[in-house]
Amino acid sequence: MSIFINPLFILFISIFNFQIATIDARPNMLNNIIHVSSSPAPVPSMADSGIQAGSSNHKTHSNKKLVIAVIAASSLGVILLPLMCLLICRREKLFRSRANRLDQLRGLPLSSFITRTNSAFKQNSQKQLVSVMDYSLLKAATNNFHESEILGSGGFGCVYKGRLDDNLFVAVKKLDNESRDALKEFQTEVDILSKVQHPNIITLLGYCVDDETKILVYELMQNGSLDTQLHGPSCGSNLTWHCRMKIALDTARGLEYLHEHCKPPVIHRDLKSSNILLDSRYNAKLADFGLAVMDGANKNVKLSGTLGYVAPEYLLDGKLTDKSDVYAFGVVLLELLLKRRPVEKQKQTPPERQSLVTWAMPQLTDRSKLPSIIDPVIRDTMDPKHLYQVAAVAVLCLQPEPSYRPLITDVLHSLVPLVPVELGGTLRVAENRVAAAFEP
Ligand SMILES: Nc1ncnc2c1ncn2[C@@H]1O[C@H](COP(=O)(O)OP(=O)(O)O)[C@@H](O)[C@H]1O
Ligand SMILES: [Mg+2]
Repeated sequence: MSIFINPLFILFISIFNFQIATIDARPNMLNNIIHVSSSPAPVPSMADSGIQAGSSNHKTHSNKKLVIAVIAASSLGVILLPLMCLLICRREKLFRSRANRLDQLRGLPLSSFITRTNSAFKQNSQKQLVSVMDYSLLKAATNNFHESEILGSGGFGCVYKGRLDDNLFVAVKKLDNESRDALKEFQTEVDILSKVQHPNIITLLGYCVDDETKILVYELMQNGSLDTQLHGPSCGSNLTWHCRMKIALDTARGLEYLHEHCKPPVIHRDLKSSNILLDSRYNAKLADFGLAVMDGANKNVKLSGTLGYVAPEYLLDGKLTDKSDVYAFGVVLLELLLKRRPVEKQKQTPPERQSLVTWAMPQLTDRSKLPSIIDPVIRDTMDPKHLYQVAAVAVLCLQPEPSYRPLITDVLHSLVPLVPVELGGTLRVAENRVAAAFEP
């Protein structure tokens, strides 16, 4: 766009200058007409008179020139103005068609991202540009997408560990699935992540579109997902009570940013432990924005999400609001407290599926039962008052009626006092206990 501002700006400045010249010239012309035809000149001193007589003649002469110049300039302006406008329009058209051709060469309508980028998240103008990366570079960085580099997998392919030239480690998500849904999720993720910037939201470094292959490149999160930490080989043993509270607080901060600070607001729509990633210091970041929707946009989107995390009103009526994310956050809180999966297979025959929410709700409000269902790794390691408080927050988030659920901002404020100052909260605890927050 800046390309077109320059000639327009110059044109505007020229017209503006021309107008000033015309206005400046008018009083002089008027004075001279009066001076020449009617009133006699005041009697000047000899010296003054010579100078004045000469100057008056000169003025009359030069004013005539000025009038001719003004007439000539205005007629020139009348001819040049439409001509320049025509030229600018043609240049703009040419530029647009060239940009479209570039997009087509890359195989993806990049302009659609750009158009949407301009319409939203105006407060994030300082966000660094997401790079378009070369397929061969990513192939080399991931050892030709080798199995040994796989960090995790999801609905649309695998995520590989990659090493870029400059010793920068990254996570590379390769979408193998060519369905329309996969392409739409890819576009949504690029669209949203290229606009948002927050310490608790994963950073998208770049993307690549190479024929049918679509790739997303993120900052690497060394401690993987919360799901792997809780339900993987370490069985939650790396996560102390304080560390879990920090993860809950970070997650709430990421959601608060999406719900309250993005314009238009964003609903994540797929909040779950496998989409909460942990860096080397267990800072939690929200990831996987493929299903996210901008509030205010068409909410009649296809029913999506993950069983066990989906709010009842969304599942039954397709009603989607920020409170759907609050419900999913409640389920994540239960996972952190109880280290149980949201839907568990019962060991009986035939095996039945048990909903964590249905099973846990009555016990969360019973202070005598609550400690017995807590993950044994953290049981009795926290102040019981804090445990009751977190359980109460979870119960509120999991209310079947969305309007009874708190806003994520309220959840965030209730968690801040439970997290040590050193981990981003306001709780003051003995130094040795904070150090222990990271030690299993
Ligand atoms: N930036 C990352 N750093 C480390 N591991 C990651 C990263 N991104 C994804 N993963 C791993 O890959 C898994 C799937 O990634 P995700 O973005 O959720 O893809 P999907 O859309 O297929 O679910 C995650 O649960 C996590 O284990
Ligand atoms: Mg995922």
